[in-house]
This record gives sequence, structure tokens and C-alpha cells, in this order.
Amino acid sequence: MAYQDPKLAAILRRSREHGLPGYTIRPEEGRFLQFLVLVLQARRVVEVGTLGGYSTAWMALALPPEGHLWTLERDAYHAQVARRNLQEAGLADRVTVLQGEAPRDLEALAQHGPFDLVFVDAEKGVYPACYEWAMTHLRPGGVFAAHNAYWAEEVTGILTRIRSDDRAFLFVYPSSEGLLAAVKKGT
Ligand SMILES: C[S@@+](CC[C@H](N)C(=O)[O-])C[C@H]1O[C@@H](n2cnc3c(N)ncnc32)[C@H](O)[C@@H]1O
Repeated sequence: MAYQDPKLAAILRRSREHGLPGYTIRPEEGRFLQFLVLVLQARRVVEVGTLGGYSTAWMALALPPEGHLWTLERDAYHAQVARRNLQEAGLADRVTVLQGEAPRDLEALAQHGPFDLVFVDAEKGVYPACYEWAMTHLRPGGVFAAHNAYWAEEVTGILTRIRSDDRAFLFVYPSSEGLLAAVKKGT
């Protein structure tokens, strides 16, 4: 298992104690997301699908102090637990948890862009719409990442769609669930 900061293990533990489901990313996927944040020198990140804030915290811990992450969660209770978890991890100033639904409520975030990284881990049917939003609001060289790439391909054909899209370069990190990372081409 990949190394994880004790703050991350605490978020998992508190999420369990609050009755949240356990379908989070895995530590090696968290390390990969941190790698993306660092290699992109990311300052502005958007996430869709917060749950208890575990993947949020992986990315936020790699952001510089002036960086910010906006994370969108449709379930009010999940958003509430995530806010508390992120506050206890000392990340409240770097993260805004918004209660809302993608893709509809992504538009409210556009004012904070362009973004360096957009990460989606939500119901699979919204992946294509989130991808299109990301292609508009990422900076050139920015990355659209999404969890459960293999499942999302079955439901929406997202990998096939991105592979044939001249605007992006697709890479799939072969974790057990598959984590796709598509770089927006251009300068
Ligand atoms: C798999 S969990 C996210 C796990 C989280 N990324 C982690 O690894 O810690 C999916 C979450 O996305 C939320 N969700 C599902 N569809 C959504 C949508 N269309 N917009 C916003 N949130 C959504 C669910 O309520 C749930 O909390």
C-alpha cells in the first residue's frame, strides 16, 4: 500500500464513524493525484464527488498555500462530514466544499478558472458532460482525471470518446478501478 499521511487515515476513520460508504479512491490513486498536482504546479483544482473528503485531502495536501480546490457534492450529509473532516485536517482554508450536482452546478465554478486539474469520481453517467466542461475550463496542459475508468467506459464509452478527441491525450493509470488522466493539448 502506498504511504499516506496520518491526516488521510483519520479522514477515512471519521468517515466510517459517521456511517459514510467506503467507496473511496485507493492510496496508490491518491499518490497519483498528488503527483499530478505537483507536476502541473496546480493552483486551481475542481473535484466532482467529495464523499467524506478523502480524495479531496490527497490533492489539497499537495497544493501550495495559495492554491485552492473546489469540490462539488450532491449529498448534503456527505458535504457536511467532508467539511468537518477537512477542517480537522487543517485544510479548510484551501478547500471549498459546495453542495450541488454536476454537471449543472459546475457552471457556478467557471468564474474561478481556468483550472489546472479537474477530477471526477461520481455517478458514471455524468462523466462525458464533466469532460466537456473540463475541456472548456482547463488551461492548455491541464488534466481531466476520472476514477473508475473501466466502469465509466462500459457505461458511457468515455475512454473511446477521449481517445478519438484531437483536443486531448489520454493516459489510463492501471489501478484496480482504472484512473484516467487526459491532458488538454495546446499552448
Ligand atoms: C465514489 S464517491 C467519491 C469518493 C471520493 N472521491 C473519495 O475517493 O474520497 C461518489 C460521491 O459523489 C457524489 N455524487 C454522485 N454523483 C454526483 C453528481 N452528479 N454531482 C455531485 N456529486 C455526485 C455521491 O453522493 C458520493 O458522495
